[in-house]
Amino acid sequence: TSLKDAFKDDFLIGTAMSDFQAAGRDEKALELIKQHFNSITPENLMKAERLMTGWKQYDFSLADKMVAFAQENNIKINGHTFIWHSQMPAFMRGIRNPDSVRAYFEDIIQTVGSRYDGKVDSWDVVNEALNEDGTLRQSTFLRALGEDYIVEAFRLAQKATPNSKLYYNDYNIEQPKKRAGAIAIIKKIQEAGVRIDGVGIQGHWHLGKVPFKDIEESIKEFSALGIKVMFTELDISVLPSPWDNTSAEVSLHAAENPKMNPYVNGLPDSVSQQLAKDYEELFKLFLKYKDHISRITFWGVNDGQSWLNGWPIRGRTNYPLLFDRQYQPKAAYYSIMALKTGK
Ligand code: G3I
Repeated sequence: TSLKDAFKDDFLIGTAMSDFQAAGRDEKALELIKQHFNSITPENLMKAERLMTGWKQYDFSLADKMVAFAQENNIKINGHTFIWHSQMPAFMRGIRNPDSVRAYFEDIIQTVGSRYDGKVDSWDVVNEALNEDGTLRQSTFLRALGEDYIVEAFRLAQKATPNSKLYYNDYNIEQPKKRAGAIAIIKKIQEAGVRIDGVGIQGHWHLGKVPFKDIEESIKEFSALGIKVMFTELDISVLPSPWDNTSAEVSLHAAENPKMNPYVNGLPDSVSQQLAKDYEELFKLFLKYKDHISRITFWGVNDGQSWLNGWPIRGRTNYPLLFDRQYQPKAAYYSIMALKTGK
């Protein structure tokens, strides 16, 4: 059995794919992807910074390679992402004038969207547009184009890629204030008569602190808008957050501090069991609302690959996913599978 087979009647099971994997250089990860996942989100390689080599110039070679891999293996792709304030191409740095920003904005959606129409199942059209209090984040786009830029992005995407589903994607939008901001965005798009098919709750959570109540409330509120809900970048960090510690403990050398990087030599069984329990509770919740949820995507194939080894402190050893550094399934994997197989 595999993850994608176990949950085939419930939702898609996705993974982020790294540049390294897309280049075909991580055989073991590619085997796991083929076996367990029926959806891929490129972790970085479809971001503007990676696709654009200059003004209206693109290099699609790695993205095309990933698309070919997905097609050969009958895996769907969630494109990530057209409009994001972060990871913009270098030539956009310092560009403020509205005409230039608009030209960039229209070009990336039109060029990338139309190229992959019919090949990419869905797109994160706009990523992370909100502040924690639910207001719109200051960004190149908000400053130059005004608050309608989000509706505009969806309008352009609908035209460029009529066959892709269109999503708004953000983190912490299960939290009440930010959730209200996301609901306002979705309603505005709908009221403008523009298509939005779903919302992606990223799902970067912490061991023992997964906000189950807020997640459940969010699934209900978002799906009441007539759209699908997805969990798009799921991982659960087992390491202490630097924001919960004094600055003395969080020095430049925090990775060498056993308090901030406690599991260099392996994960104690108690922590591994807690992780399995958190994932089990989450998937119970997902299954309860499976009619409203279309995809669960993990942000990486295995622990060794996770961005959480490098953020927010570089060089730590984290264990946030279902497969370990040897590409073997962990207790968390078995706890989820047991919900479907009874074993
Ligand atoms: O590949 C280069 C390497 O050549 C270079 O030497 C090195 C020096 O810093 O950087 C490498 O690129 C890094 C890349 O990850 C690949 O590891 C970038 O610096 C680094 O910024 C980039 O981080 C990515 C991050 O987005 C950027 O904001 C993470 O991999 C990726 O997991 C993360 O994903 C985001 C989602 O897109 C949106 N939601 C949050 C999520 C986590 O931050």
